[in-house]
Amino acid sequence: MGADGQCTEHNCKDCPNREQPAPVARRSAVSWILSGGVAASLVSFFYPIVRFLNPPNIAEAAVDEVLAGKVGDLKANSGKIVKFGNKPALLVHVNDSEWKAFSAVCSHLNCTVQYQDSTSQIWCACHNGIYDLNGRVVSGPPPKPLEEYAVRIRADEVIISRRG
Ligand code: FES
Repeated sequence: MGADGQCTEHNCKDCPNREQPAPVARRSAVSWILSGGVAASLVSFFYPIVRFLNPPNIAEAAVDEVLAGKVGDLKANSGKIVKFGNKPALLVHVNDSEWKAFSAVCSHLNCTVQYQDSTSQIWCACHNGIYDLNGRVVSGPPPKPLEEYAVRIRADEVIISRRG
């Protein structure tokens, strides 16, 4: 401050016209809101990714037996996928007197297998895995056979059940 009481320095601490800093409370409130917005954006972006990569464990439905359909629904030398709990099963009507059923989940990378009537084999389209009608691996990458289920006919119904 000069002898005449005028301020000679820009924004000196004794100057009555000194610029006042913005109130800290308002600045910190704006900062808080912006930080919260950024945090919410990050959470909304990453949460679905984390949930996708780490899905919740869903307890497998405890199913030991299912009604797979009527005898007349499936002609000989054909197969169909049916639900066995929360997994697919493959029912094969081999010939007039023989039925087979397997887990339709490929032992390689869990693709769903299908029956091929031209070769009378079970085929996995994902990596060309082939199983025979006993569920054994014929060729391709599957490391293990398919789980085989029991099939019984009750009246005109086809019942698939786990082997006990
Ligand atoms: S998932 Fe079936 S052969 Fe690869």
